[in-house]
Amino acid sequence: MEVILAEHAGFCFGVKKAVDTVYEQVEHKDKKIYTYGPIIHNEEVVKDLESKGVEVVNNVDDLSNVSEDGTIVIRAHGIPRKTEEKIKQKGISYVDATCPFVKRIHRIVDEESQKGRTIVITGNAKHPEVEGIVSWANGPVYVIESLEDAQKFALPVETELTLVSQTTFNYKKFKDVVEIFNGKGYNINIVNTICNATQERQTEAEKIAAEADAMIVIGGTSSSNTRKLYEICSGKCKHTYFVQTVDDLPKDFPEGIYKVGITAGASTPKNIIEEVQTYVRTGTDI
Ligand code: F3S
Repeated sequence: MEVILAEHAGFCFGVKKAVDTVYEQVEHKDKKIYTYGPIIHNEEVVKDLESKGVEVVNNVDDLSNVSEDGTIVIRAHGIPRKTEEKIKQKGISYVDATCPFVKRIHRIVDEESQKGRTIVITGNAKHPEVEGIVSWANGPVYVIESLEDAQKFALPVETELTLVSQTTFNYKKFKDVVEIFNGKGYNINIVNTICNATQERQTEAEKIAAEADAMIVIGGTSSSNTRKLYEICSGKCKHTYFVQTVDDLPKDFPEGIYKVGITAGASTPKNIIEEVQTYVRTGTDI
C-alpha cells in the first residue's frame, strides 16, 4: 500500500510546548502536578499523564482541591482572565503554557477594546480558547460562529470594530465573514489571527485527500481541529476514516484502494501517527 503522510500531521508548536511542559513538571517529584482542563484533546496522552499522577482541574471550583504543594499547568489555548486571577488570589503556583499565538490575541483584544473598539471574534463561543479570548475584552464583544451570524450582525454602522479569530477557524470562512462585514460599511480593523499551523495542515490535508484513494485522519473525538480536518478530507475523498488510534482502523480497506493519505490533528502524538502508518504500510501493528 502506498502511503502519503502529511508533513504537518500532529503536534503543532504550541501543543508540543504545553505537553513538554507537563512532562518536565512531572519530573519534580516533590510537587503534585495539575493541568487546567485536559492538556490536549487526546485520551492516550491524558491517560499517560494520569498514570504519572497528574490531575485535571476542570473548573474554578476545583481549585479548592489543589494541594498546597500543587502546580497547575495552563494549557495551550489558555484560560479566562478571571480564572488566572483566581489562581493568583489563592496563591497557587502555576506554569503558563498558553501558546504565544493565543497570548497575542489576548493582547490585541485587550488593547483594541481599551481604545473603545468593539471586538468581534470568529470562532466557536463554547470553545475554551474563545472563552479565554472573550475574557480579555474590556467592553462589548461578539462571537461570530457562522456566515449567518455575520449577516445578522446589526450594530450601528459607525461602531468601530476589531475582528480577530480563534486560531483554528477555517480560513475561507474567515475571509467570507470579512467580506460580509466590509459590505456592511463598518470601520473595521481586521487582524487575521488564524494560526499558520492550522492553515498549513488543512491545505495539505485537502491536497492529499484529493489524490488518495482513502484518507485517514487521526485525532481525539473532542478535538475540534481534527474534526475540521475530517470534514475537509471527506469533501475530497469518500473513503475518509476518523480514528483515535490504530485500533479504530478497519481490518481491510475496500477494493481498489492503493494509495492512502494520513494526516493528524494538532493534539496527536507522533507515536500514534507512526503506529497507523506502519499498520497501513505493512498490515501489522508495531
Ligand atoms: Fe498555537 Fe497554533 Fe498550535 S495557535 S496551539 S501553534 S494551532
